[in-house]
Amino acid sequence: MTTPTERAEFVVVANRLPVDKTVLADGTVQWKRSPGGLVTALEPILRNHTGAWVGWSGVPDSDDNPEIEGLDVRAVPLSAAEIADYYEGFSNGTLWPLYHDVIVKPEYHREWWNSYVAINERFAKATAEVAGPGALVWVQDYQLQLVPKMLRELRPDLKIGFFLHIPFPPVELFMQLPWRAEIVDGLLGSDLIGFHLPDGAENFLYLANRLGGHEASRRSVGVRSRFGSVAVGDRTVKVGAFPISIASGEIDSASKSRAIRSRAREIRKELGNPKTVLLGVDRLDYTKGIDVRLKAISELLEEGRLEPQETVMVQLATPSRERVESYVAMRAEIEQLVGNINGNFAEVGQPVVQYLNRPIPRDELVAFFVAADVMLVTPLRDGMNLVAKEYVACRSDLGGALVLSEFTGAAAELKQAYQANPYDLDGVKDAIEAAVTDPAEDRRDRMRAMRRQVLAHDVEKWAKSFLDTLRDTNS
Ligand code: ADP
Ligand code: F6P
Repeated sequence: MTTPTERAEFVVVANRLPVDKTVLADGTVQWKRSPGGLVTALEPILRNHTGAWVGWSGVPDSDDNPEIEGLDVRAVPLSAAEIADYYEGFSNGTLWPLYHDVIVKPEYHREWWNSYVAINERFAKATAEVAGPGALVWVQDYQLQLVPKMLRELRPDLKIGFFLHIPFPPVELFMQLPWRAEIVDGLLGSDLIGFHLPDGAENFLYLANRLGGHEASRRSVGVRSRFGSVAVGDRTVKVGAFPISIASGEIDSASKSRAIRSRAREIRKELGNPKTVLLGVDRLDYTKGIDVRLKAISELLEEGRLEPQETVMVQLATPSRERVESYVAMRAEIEQLVGNINGNFAEVGQPVVQYLNRPIPRDELVAFFVAADVMLVTPLRDGMNLVAKEYVACRSDLGGALVLSEFTGAAAELKQAYQANPYDLDGVKDAIEAAVTDPAEDRRDRMRAMRRQVLAHDVEKWAKSFLDTLRDTNS
């Protein structure tokens, strides 16, 4: 572990630490894996590189630093009011819906914005203290878009990269944001800005040209964008697409172990050995289209295209952002849909939909992926969706079929999935039916092709490509 005197040469800055703090009723502290794809992707990278991680512990007013081997962990404390305004408010009540196609209406509140600015400043200061001279600093995601500029002002010696884990929105939606120019300027403090897809990079390049350098006169700051880069005064900011991935080799190996195979068989038995097991694995988030797949299943059962005695759907849903209003409403809707399907089609002791609202341990999750005949990934919008890649990585047997929304980043790579437009319920139903009934040989061909893609493009390659590009920048 690095100490404050030997400051880190590589620093990850993310809203959350890789582990989440829970304080039990008797005061005992537990640290568990944090939710979401960002930690899934970055945790194996930090296992292989030493460095520091700056982030929030997930609870109010805590600056405890958990012990993680090889990692200098720096907790950034947030008060309950700051969690409400910066995290639940501006990050997840304004930016999250705005960047996800305004599936719910973004709210614009000046006090949320003020808190976002103050907390980004706190993250920038904490990072400036941890980073060694000339260190490589990798700022993550939409919660921290102002950090690159703030950090550059504090520490011009650093190389600063920024990666956005969610979609970057179309220009006409981004223009709604009252603080649009400040966000663009914040990001332009980076040496390299990465998005999942070329579309996001192009949207940003257009906006940088239109809005960048607003604080001084645009003429004196001189912001000009062209393909792949933005000139900001005498600096050049590189902009590109870096589609994120998973530790596919590790997951592939885990899924082949005897213990996992046997647990997968046991899961099918516990489900009553149905002919078809359908699976959904998500944070309980309105972007994930859990309602879409439940409605599709319900209609397929009603139309006799799926047999209730032969079919079980398992929905594993990790609780997420439980105090944000739109999440409370969505949870109620999903639980009602699950109840309706079981009310209409289940027998006593034989539910058609099995729904767990809690995080599942990693090994158990891998066993579920191995056990499932059809994986349902139906987001209305998703930056990448690592679950789709995890499922493919688990299917060395070439069994299973993936139903995948066209509006995920993963759809650009997993072209052989059963793809559907999540807004077209008939299309989703057809995709599910085909995934259940197509000849095994067709499904194997699709899985073989998807596995080639996922195994060849793992998260280590993603990180290397981003960090090599960052090292090569010379602004
Ligand atoms: P997001 O980052 O929006 O949550 P991703 O699909 O990219 O979405 O990543 C989600 C990560 O969280 C994956 O690694 C997935 O395995 C994990 N995950 C999702 N749901 C659960 C669950 N119910 N239990 C345990 N892990 C989960
Ligand atoms: O990119 C997806 C993401 O929003 C991450 O930034 C975040 O850490 C994760 O999902 C989980 O969300 P939250 O941190 O709000 O629980």
